[in-house]
Amino acid sequence: MSRSAPDLAEVLSGQPAPIRQICCIGAGYVGGPTMAVIADHCPAIQVTVVDLNEARIAAWNDPDLSRLPVYEPGLDAVVGRCRGRNLHFTTAVEAAIASADMVFLSVNTPTKTRGIGAGQASDLRWIEASARQVAACAQGHTIVVEKSTLPVRTAETVKAILTAAQGAGGQTTFAVLSNPEFLAEGTAINDLEHPDRVLIGGEDPEAIDALAAIYGHWVPAERILRTNLWSSELSKLTANAFLAQRISSINAIGALCEATGADVREVARAIGSDSRIGSKFLAAGPGFGGSCFQKDILNLVYLCGHYGLQEVANYWQQVVELNSWQQHRIANLVVRSLFGTVTGKRLAVLGFAFKGDTNDTRESPAIRICLDLIEEGAHLAIYDPKVSSAQIAADLGQAEADQGQDQPQPGQGEGRWQLARSAGEAARGADAVLILTEWREFRQLDWAALAPSMRQPAWLFDGRAIADTAAARSAGLNVWTVGEG
Ligand code: UDX
Ligand code: ADP
Repeated sequence: MSRSAPDLAEVLSGQPAPIRQICCIGAGYVGGPTMAVIADHCPAIQVTVVDLNEARIAAWNDPDLSRLPVYEPGLDAVVGRCRGRNLHFTTAVEAAIASADMVFLSVNTPTKTRGIGAGQASDLRWIEASARQVAACAQGHTIVVEKSTLPVRTAETVKAILTAAQGAGGQTTFAVLSNPEFLAEGTAINDLEHPDRVLIGGEDPEAIDALAAIYGHWVPAERILRTNLWSSELSKLTANAFLAQRISSINAIGALCEATGADVREVARAIGSDSRIGSKFLAAGPGFGGSCFQKDILNLVYLCGHYGLQEVANYWQQVVELNSWQQHRIANLVVRSLFGTVTGKRLAVLGFAFKGDTNDTRESPAIRICLDLIEEGAHLAIYDPKVSSAQIAADLGQAEADQGQDQPQPGQGEGRWQLARSAGEAARGADAVLILTEWREFRQLDWAALAPSMRQPAWLFDGRAIADTAAARSAGLNVWTVGEG
């Protein structure tokens, strides 16, 4: 039995037995931090996070907490408090499912790259595989919670797989819930500790109550919203689509500001003071990245197409197109500003993560911008405080060039990239510095010290509008700031 037999007090109270064992399938950016926070707040619940990826599990178990596979401010402290007490990381998937009362599905759901819906629909093979694993290993009554962002009506697939496995004598039974995660990377622990809302979609009131009771340990009851399954799944896609749309909107206006002499930050402040619009999420930049926005909008587009709502699909598709356009636009204007060619020129790229305070590079705008510049023959010196050389090589599809090859050779050779260990090292001998991620240290760069080490005339392209541009100008640099006319 996965669920321990209810004690007498529970039977008499008529309340369902509380959850004692949780299993989370998928030890990624969502599963790891979410389970750590649940374990921290619910010491009576044993939480086991499982993954097929042995290296990832080993990293979660690393005694050195600075080497956890996910970098999130505050995560090391939470894991340090709970690991080995009621938080466990293991590759023993089957055993963890068998003893769980509640299983979270927190596996990857990337956009399909081939077949039906390629480029738009989510690839559900990992969800299906994990649902089948739950079906095969679960015992007793198990509540299955969709945590991954999924296309609307995926719960139906999960239910179909589980129902087929349900014991004829009712020995194994399942309830399926949707509980999408709204955490943002870099602020995951704070978002989990103080969520604006927790959304639980489902049809089985007992299962919903059981999950609500877990969050009830630290989330006020009025913030726990209950909906039907489909509303919950669609709300997650819609939230991300609306957020991404704001970024494409402000980036579109930023381009107009550059053309007209307006300043997008002043415009953002002016419109953000309208309480109906609100001031958050209006920072113009190199476009949105991250594992969710593009994937979820494409999912929405696919869904709308599927239901024959082509105009609605086109409307949301435009948000993604504007985002890609913004990235190519920035690469183009770098080339144009450097006398129309970057071939053989050293360019310092500061920041490769898709935003500050994370080591995640999925869909990072830096990838497309760097690829465009490499295509133009540039020699990139890339510095990011948290992203590894191996990750950059994987994202750019190109190994790091030999360190001996770092002398600019104008007019010669293929584009390439090298890792730099600091902003100063990246800028040395460069024709331009590009700021692509808003790491705090890039706000405080000492331009009086950096500029003389660059090849003149030199440029600063501030894609995040965070640098001290007055100091950069007085150090003799030409400056372009996103959204500033
Ligand atoms: C997002 C959602 O915020 C979160 O609720 C959901 O669960 C997952 O997707 P995340 O992708 O971690 O979270 O990061 P987010 O902070 O939303 O930023 C996404 C992208 O937008 C980043 O590339 C960021 O740099 C960019 N962005 C954000 C801007 O360019 N301007 C802004 O004003 C805000
Ligand atoms: P997210 O950002 O949604 O958390 P990640 O890709 O970071 O996504 O993490 C998903 C994790 O799920 C990966 O570490 C992957 O190995 C794991 N995973 C996928 N399918 C299974 C499965 N069937 N069993 C166990 N782990 C799985």
